[in-house]
Amino acid sequence: MVKVEAFIESAIEEIRREAGDEKVVVALSGGVDSSVCAMLAARAIGKNLIPIYVDTGLMRKGESERICELFCDIGVKRVNAAEEFFAALKGIVDPEEKRKAIGERFVRIFEREAKATGAKFLLQGTIYPDRIESEGGIKSHHNVGGMPIDMMFQKVIEPLRDLYKDEVREVAGGVGLPLEIQHRMPFPGPGLAVRVLGEVTPEAIAVVREANAIVEEELVEAYRPWQCFAALLGRGTGVKGDIRCFGWVVAVRAVNSRDGMTADPLELPFTVLGEIAGRITSEIAEVSRVVYDVTPKPPATIEYE
Ligand code: XMP
Repeated sequence: MVKVEAFIESAIEEIRREAGDEKVVVALSGGVDSSVCAMLAARAIGKNLIPIYVDTGLMRKGESERICELFCDIGVKRVNAAEEFFAALKGIVDPEEKRKAIGERFVRIFEREAKATGAKFLLQGTIYPDRIESEGGIKSHHNVGGMPIDMMFQKVIEPLRDLYKDEVREVAGGVGLPLEIQHRMPFPGPGLAVRVLGEVTPEAIAVVREANAIVEEELVEAYRPWQCFAALLGRGTGVKGDIRCFGWVVAVRAVNSRDGMTADPLELPFTVLGEIAGRITSEIAEVSRVVYDVTPKPPATIEYE
């Protein structure tokens, strides 16, 4: 286990030494790793830290507002890029193409921001398991859609590189981050885009955002799953108010897992599932059907794309 106070001291010293007088960009996602990095760097280099939050239009309900509120004291810059992302995603149905389009947008936005601010260094929340998996060729981390954003910076500073996730969570408490960040559920970099099978449109994202909010409200506190969410599988016939409708089919996914490499579905009571289906179909006019995913990983992945 990490000695929190000692770690914070030495990480601040390291960031100060590595950054010198240069400006340093950090991409804040609201995840615990980038959040801890940003808080450490704010203490280390103050105004030379440029925390950027990209609102892709693909985030969960209230998430962008909450993240910007939490980090307003350290001067987070919110980049409103929803239109840009939706334009880039128009007509794309292939999951890998989607990730690529999203990754490219992130790279362009960071290029723009780095140029505008004159920042040459990047602060990244890489943690120990990320390094191991990257070195082993299992996953490439801290990039979206295979597009590394570190390529355009002269130096990458990684103060969390020797920590495990649970240690980062402890440090999060030490730098004053609230529990909602310390224990935030994993959320994919490409956001809700990978929870809409097929083309990503503002309409589909609005529906999946509402459905996600309902699933989280019903399950997070009551069942503490490792991860839970809703996804749009496509459209199907339903009947609402005596009128046939060709509405969205929503899948509810709730899993327990240790590290995301394998996962098991939660055995939820049927009444709870019925409650969720009832809320989703009554509160979201465009949804005609709700199904619960009972597939473990493997063979299914946790996300749908
Ligand atoms: P899968 O779907 O591969 O997901 O079983 C395992 C865990 O990783 C998250 N995930 C992602 N996280 N960028 C991320 O930062 C991504 O592109 C991405 N895809 C999946 C997923 O939410 C789950 O926790």
